[in-house]
Amino acid sequence: MADFETVVVETDVLICGGGMAACGAAVEAAYWSKKNGLKVTLVDKASMDRSGAVAMGLSAINQYVGLKDGQNTMNDYVDYVRNDLMGITREDLVASIARHVDGSVHLFEKWGLPIWKDADGGYVHEGRWQLMINGESYKIIVAEAAKNALGVDNIFERVFITGPLMDGDRCSGAVGFSVRENKFYVFKAKATLAAMGGAVGVFKPRSSGEGAGRAWYPPFNSGASTYFTLKAGAEMTCQEVRFIPVRFKDAYGPVGAWFLLFKSRATNALDENYMQTRAGELENWAPYGKVKPVPANLRNWLMMLDVMEGKGPIYMRTEEAIAKLAEQYKDDPKAFKKKMKELENEAWEDFLDMTISQALLWASTNVQPEESKSEIAAAEPYFIGSHSGASGAWVSGPEDIAPPEYFWGYTNMSTVKGLFCAGDASGASSHKFSSGSHAEGRIAGKSICKFAAENKDALNYDDAAIAKMKEAVFKPMVLFEENCGKTTQADVNPHYILPKMFQMRLQKMMDEYAGGVTAQFTTSEANLNKCLDLLALLKEDSEKLGAKDLHELMRAWENTHRMYQAEAHVRSILFREETRWPGYYFRSDKPKMDANWECFVNCRLDPKTDEWEMKKVPLKKIF
Ligand code: FAD
Ligand code: ADX
Repeated sequence: MADFETVVVETDVLICGGGMAACGAAVEAAYWSKKNGLKVTLVDKASMDRSGAVAMGLSAINQYVGLKDGQNTMNDYVDYVRNDLMGITREDLVASIARHVDGSVHLFEKWGLPIWKDADGGYVHEGRWQLMINGESYKIIVAEAAKNALGVDNIFERVFITGPLMDGDRCSGAVGFSVRENKFYVFKAKATLAAMGGAVGVFKPRSSGEGAGRAWYPPFNSGASTYFTLKAGAEMTCQEVRFIPVRFKDAYGPVGAWFLLFKSRATNALDENYMQTRAGELENWAPYGKVKPVPANLRNWLMMLDVMEGKGPIYMRTEEAIAKLAEQYKDDPKAFKKKMKELENEAWEDFLDMTISQALLWASTNVQPEESKSEIAAAEPYFIGSHSGASGAWVSGPEDIAPPEYFWGYTNMSTVKGLFCAGDASGASSHKFSSGSHAEGRIAGKSICKFAAENKDALNYDDAAIAKMKEAVFKPMVLFEENCGKTTQADVNPHYILPKMFQMRLQKMMDEYAGGVTAQFTTSEANLNKCLDLLALLKEDSEKLGAKDLHELMRAWENTHRMYQAEAHVRSILFREETRWPGYYFRSDKPKMDANWECFVNCRLDPKTDEWEMKKVPLKKIF
């Protein structure tokens, strides 16, 4: 691509991504870099103001421990996360985020984020760990602080990171391309943070043509963190721990406020509450089936059992919950009317703050939450290690908490020297959400500066290898250009496959064989092996991805990233010979939880041979 300029950016610390973790890292790294004379650079594929999972805003901060107020302890949070993940969690990482998360929340408030207050000036909780916010502009506020801290000259927006640069076994930066200009970027860095979120679109979504692109997880995050860390040769963990959110059907509106704040029930078509009628099933998943709150996957599972028995649709009983909350005012018509209005406002605001499309769907289907119940359903699987899933890189814990097996020098550094991960990109530390991802970004931001300051030695860059990378990055456009005239319709061509078709193939095989919606989230060894065969063919064809312009080039690379996320997932489910998270996925051939698998499943791709190594890693209880 002779007419594509190569732009070389030399820096000390490179932050890949501009979301919650990246913004946290930027704020902290800006501080520590000044102390150490370091340059910090941030690259986001989109515009930081509205990039990532918080783009539309949020209606709650889902992690607030309240340490100062003595509401909870760090141990309480570790207990909560361990139980919710059916015992599999890195307690050192969870504890470290828990002890710092309140600081991030207080910063958000200082920067202008409105957090709901009660009559005494205290925070209004949605649940034990969650705070209600007016969060439509949450991401803009957090991004502004990051931009101010770093300075806009050090920020590259609309630059898509395709993969890592390596100097032997050390990460030495990243390469990518502008999605707006004919430019190839080479970022040379002493240390790199992968904070490019999780992945959506690996599985076939419930929405088809009419709503294609609408999913719960944001379409912008497409597996870049996983691809980046795998291609650098880093060890990954919990790649089997996908997340299936139960959401208001078709527009994916959040359920947290309904379950926790409004105390709503969910019932099947027969008016039965599956949490009660199916309570006996929880015994089969003891000890985790017996904890409170019931783990998210088991809540899903009880609901799915109803659906599989034909007892759906499932409904959130919004009308009942609102009536119950207003009941105490019913003798005073004026107060009753006021309370009803207030509840109605809160119900709509919950969606308008974070999932506007759900408010539109309610409006267009004449749903009034105070009058009618509203359908909910399990969404397709996503990879989001910061929420109730756990997939991500295997990173070093903090020196003061981590056992020796989980500590190798710099907090949040992956098993590859110079490559750090945070947010969705780091694994086995679920339930960090927006606030915890920011806090983890701050932890990583400090640590990465320490690494960069202590490892200043010059790195080697092989110009010939970089030229080859450039060629590979733009190959889809060349293929298209050379061959598009060979058929009458450019989207059907024997010489290339366009990203849309490629993605449909990936989604179909994952859906049918790896436990997507169509397969009722069920899979087995035979199905997974079939999926691996199909993935191998898809991988061959990925060499033939075509792209007509820069936008489609981004789509091509997004799908290559997704394909690697898919393979890591399938191999990990196959390796773990049990079912531990029914409600996320069910292995029909290994239908029970097995104490022999009370451990992590880690994997690594050898970047040179493209061979996978799978292993069990012991689980260390600290608290
Ligand atoms: P993100 O914030 O998603 O950031 C990822 C960044 O990487 C983005 O800037 C993106 O543009 C960039 N990127 C991706 N690919 C590339 C690439 N190839 N090159 C360069 N940049 C790239 N948490 C709460 O606390 N409260 C809530 O109410 C809540 N609701 C949620 C609702 C939804 C629908 C979702 C999906 C999540 C919700 N969360 C909530 C969780 C929260 O949003 C995430 O935990 C958090 O955003 C994770 O931070 P992150 O930095 O890892 O990823
Ligand atoms: S969000 O990311 O879209 O905000 P969601 O609405 O599911 O997520 O949940 C918000 C928070 O409430 C999360 O911390 C989630 O674990 C918790 N939560 C949701 N439903 C329940 C429930 N029924 N019981 C306990 N916790 C719940």
